[in-house]
Amino acid sequence: MQKNLFIYTFGCQMNVHDSEKIVALMEKSGYASVGDVGMADLIIINTCSIREKAAQKAYSQLGRLKEFKKRKPRLIIGVGGCLAQQWGAKLIERVPYLDLVFGTHNIHSLPDLIKTIEETRVQVVRTEFHEAVKSLGILAPIRNGRVTAYVTIMQGCNNFCSYCVVPHLRGKEESRSLREIVKEVEVLAGRGVKEVTLLGQNVNSYGKTIGNGHDFADLLHEIGSIRGIERIRFTTSHPKDLSDRLVNCFSYVDKLCEHIHLPVQTGSDRILSMMNRCYTNADYCERVDKLRSVRPDISITSDIIVGFPGETDRDFQATIDMMGKIRFDNLFSFKYSEREGTAAAELGDKVNDYVKSERLKIVQALQEKHTLEKNEAMIGNAEDILVEEISKNFKEDMAGRTRTNKIVNFRGGCEMIGKTVSVLITDAYQHSLRGRLLNVN
Ligand code: SAH
Ligand code: SF4
Ligand code: F3S
Repeated sequence: MQKNLFIYTFGCQMNVHDSEKIVALMEKSGYASVGDVGMADLIIINTCSIREKAAQKAYSQLGRLKEFKKRKPRLIIGVGGCLAQQWGAKLIERVPYLDLVFGTHNIHSLPDLIKTIEETRVQVVRTEFHEAVKSLGILAPIRNGRVTAYVTIMQGCNNFCSYCVVPHLRGKEESRSLREIVKEVEVLAGRGVKEVTLLGQNVNSYGKTIGNGHDFADLLHEIGSIRGIERIRFTTSHPKDLSDRLVNCFSYVDKLCEHIHLPVQTGSDRILSMMNRCYTNADYCERVDKLRSVRPDISITSDIIVGFPGETDRDFQATIDMMGKIRFDNLFSFKYSEREGTAAAELGDKVNDYVKSERLKIVQALQEKHTLEKNEAMIGNAEDILVEEISKNFKEDMAGRTRTNKIVNFRGGCEMIGKTVSVLITDAYQHSLRGRLLNVN
């Protein structure tokens, strides 16, 4: 008998991709992925713990599932991802109706763990780290003519930024072999994928753990020559590892899209040092200048944390000044959230929540202004758009992205999905652009 699977996913693209891998694994062992949680025999909650708010979201989702379990006692509820890794068996103490807690290195065991639970109805916790993460190479199913796909190139992080739980929850950095990655991208290209996003916590240190001389720039060159792949993106980069060789890829690798997500975190050198980021405000600005000298049209997005312990008005002003100087295309900004086990949790001089909220508002208002100005400056441009799907707003519209990663909606038809079309930008908004089709390339 067919059994149904429903997954809730929280957190970063890495987690989104892990959920896709979970679907692939469970489909092989007789589960079908469904869109209605009420039909599920197995519910997985793939969690994130980057900030307290992310953890809270997962807990409230778990709370809502209690009723489901009451109504359908044979329902299996499993929690994976970073919160599961962090709390392990303690999660079961807090949420006793859970059947399974599995960590970030144990995704590959999921079918076996579920089978054990089906047969014995015992509660299972599996959160140990392994030398190699065996789920890295699992191929996610490509559905509904999707033309974009994620490819994990590395996992874990050795940076230990003082505020961050990720190294504690994803383990140490590990890169996949270049050959394996290239093979995976070739398979994706064969299935009609046109754009790949290479994923890792710190993609520009790719290859360091393999030690065979191949670095991230080599990988980009290799993928750049795969037939069928038209666009390459990657996330996330650490400013300290953004080498000239990598910057130059934006000019030599045609398929590499002119967008980089380069988290800066703060403009204050004092706070950068306390965060253990290993670069200064001037270093960051120099990297941005270099990127812009190689690709003047490159779009640059970033992450900023406000209210790190000890952040003064002067430190905060340095962040605002930097935003004015660089003018990011877009920004994710967060209030500092204390995470147990991190170095920053030990620091005194905490910033109170009211101040954090005020600072966040200032950052967000300034960024909204910059984003809109940048989008408005694109009006009148003819942009190459890779058409991805029917627009979420109007079913007569198609949606795709510019090479600089901006969403564009325009009147078109489904037959355009997967094609690159030329669109004249006519209107600019905060989160998207609108345009008129010029021609299909
Ligand atoms: N590996 C990526 C980012 C991972 S987390 C990188 O190094 O850039 C994504 C973002 O969450 C970070 O860039 C940071 O801005 C934010 N973040 C991480 N820990 C946080 C914390 N404790 N409080 C608030 N924001 C945090
Ligand atoms: Fe966290 Fe820093 Fe690693 Fe990014 S580089 S995952 S912020 S420790
Ligand atoms: Fe969250 Fe883990 Fe990603 S903490 S941001 S899901 S690596």
